[in-house]
Amino acid sequence: MARPKIALIGAGQIGGTLAHLAALKELGDVVLFDIAEGTPEGKALDIAESGPSEGFDAKLKGTQDYADIAGADVCIVTAGVPRKPGMSRDDLLGINLKVMKSVGEGIRDNAPDAFVICITNPLDAMVWALQKFSGLPANKVCGMAGVLDSARFRHFLSVEFDVSMKDVTAFVLGGHGDTMVPCVRYSTVGGIPLPDLVSMGWTTQEKLDAIVQRTRDGGAEIVGLLKTGSAFYAPATSAIEMAEAYLKDQKRVLPCAAYCDGDLGVSDMYVGVPTVIGAGGIERIVNIKLNKDEQAMFDTSVNAVKGLVDACKGIDESLA
Ligand code: APR
Repeated sequence: MARPKIALIGAGQIGGTLAHLAALKELGDVVLFDIAEGTPEGKALDIAESGPSEGFDAKLKGTQDYADIAGADVCIVTAGVPRKPGMSRDDLLGINLKVMKSVGEGIRDNAPDAFVICITNPLDAMVWALQKFSGLPANKVCGMAGVLDSARFRHFLSVEFDVSMKDVTAFVLGGHGDTMVPCVRYSTVGGIPLPDLVSMGWTTQEKLDAIVQRTRDGGAEIVGLLKTGSAFYAPATSAIEMAEAYLKDQKRVLPCAAYCDGDLGVSDMYVGVPTVIGAGGIERIVNIKLNKDEQAMFDTSVNAVKGLVDACKGIDESLA
């Protein structure tokens, strides 16, 4: 059986890391596409040359030609610009919307059967636009944010409790922005919900609140440290987890930006919700029940995403 084909649209910091991880994990052959001449070719060759030491079997190719992504099983989109210190993800909207148009058309014309994972920010609005521009079925187009935000939450919690990250589960819902909703009630250590751990004296409500806020600011914290770009290791790892769930039909329960058509009360929008990812793409949205406070936070987040979607419609009439 031929190896799966993974197309990476954008060969910058995240794109290069994606290619390296996909090769190391032998998920398939990798095509790196970028408009910057030399960058995808250079990264593809560099990673291929790590193959003999690492011992992986994967072909890597860099290109500026969309024809090379033909027949891709998975497309992961990072094309666009990342933010600089002081910028919010939303500041990227105008420029990255234009990028989504060309990428969407490139995928539509060359890899219409692919499972598409968008990473470009502002995430929820960009994945919405990418689905419209590409015309691919909504269950085959999703955005990577929840896995990353949850991973950040899980990391901070494991440090606070001094326990293995493997035993910490966490859910972050809503848009991938300042209004995201880390769901404390649905997050656990060894199956014990966080509010119970506060009652047990493992941590205090104040410390938990600070961790929730640090999770919301997780991307900005890295931008502030790096100064020249945004996070790339953890975003790439998160998207690879989603791609692997699709390619291996793992039916993983992962939070991601999925098309909601009445799900959790949201219509015709992409927003972070718990999903099941398998060979059918986004096979299911888990319609969890939110309490009053969680619902209020989720609504605020959904409204923030709606504002960005409306701004996209204002910029590009074909989306209205
Ligand atoms: N088509 C293809 N590639 C493009 C296009 C385009 N129209 N426009 C820009 N690119 C490429 C750039 O040449 C660059 O190599 O996208 C790449 C982006 O890489 P980086 O600048 O290194 O950004 P990165 O850190 O990888 O983040 C990419 O993901 O998390 C988000 O906010 C982040 O929107 C940003 C995206």
